[in-house]
Amino acid sequence: MIILYFTVLLASLKQFRYTYDMDFQIHHVKSVDSTNTVLKEKAINGFPEGFVLVSDSQTNGRGRLSRSFFSPPGSGLYMSLLLRPACFVPPASLTCLAAVAAADAIFSLGKECSVKWVNDIYCGNKKAGGILVESGMKSNCTYDYVVVGIGINLFPFTNIPDDLRSIATNVFDGTPDPEIRDSFLISLLNSFSVYYEKLPEITFRERYLSLLNCIGKEVYYQNNGMHSKGIAESVDDAFRLIVKDGNNRISLDRGEVSFVPCT
Ligand code: BTN
Repeated sequence: MIILYFTVLLASLKQFRYTYDMDFQIHHVKSVDSTNTVLKEKAINGFPEGFVLVSDSQTNGRGRLSRSFFSPPGSGLYMSLLLRPACFVPPASLTCLAAVAAADAIFSLGKECSVKWVNDIYCGNKKAGGILVESGMKSNCTYDYVVVGIGINLFPFTNIPDDLRSIATNVFDGTPDPEIRDSFLISLLNSFSVYYEKLPEITFRERYLSLLNCIGKEVYYQNNGMHSKGIAESVDDAFRLIVKDGNNRISLDRGEVSFVPCT
């Protein structure tokens, strides 16, 4: 497969480089199976922190819990960002950092969204995108690399599969506009770098908490194979969801929460 790379020349990127320490190199391709899969290979081959792979479409876009991520041409931003964090931070915190950066970008372009714990971006009551963080470790428990994959449905899908029609949505109406997508990307990277450069200090927890759409609501969840429900209260320092169930408080670090009973 021939992959055509070309560096996206964005006027604003130059200014952005002078403003922040993180140096982003943005590469844009027409189609890949998954930007995360390709960027993981590049990470192993020594590509530097700040390398960003953006694809117009993905043939095998992946989400959390082995789900697929529908990525047709023109509809969305499908991107992966390569990090080489100097310090260890829990992978969930990088997922949440990316969710905050994506939400910041949506607000900066005049739209609203919320976050469904832990990694889903919602517009109204439908999913408009998600985050998939994958990493490789060195033997001494530090990161070799982290790939932060972000997929946002920016524009309406044509040919949306039936199973997505009732649960997926898009940020903007109207025809796909590459300029809006590029502005969105720059805004997202801008926000990401502000929080990322302060790690290991976590400066985005309050912002993340304010975006969560489950706080104060009854949620259904699975814990150790058991189905339960409780009231979502907060997130802790490792971005575990704290749920109050009667007199007990439970910290969930993975899995799914929903607003309807789990089946
Ligand atoms: C989810 O919904 O659980 C996460 C979806 C993450 C999708 C993005 S699109 C860019 C990157 N490449 C992938 O294969 N997945 C992520």
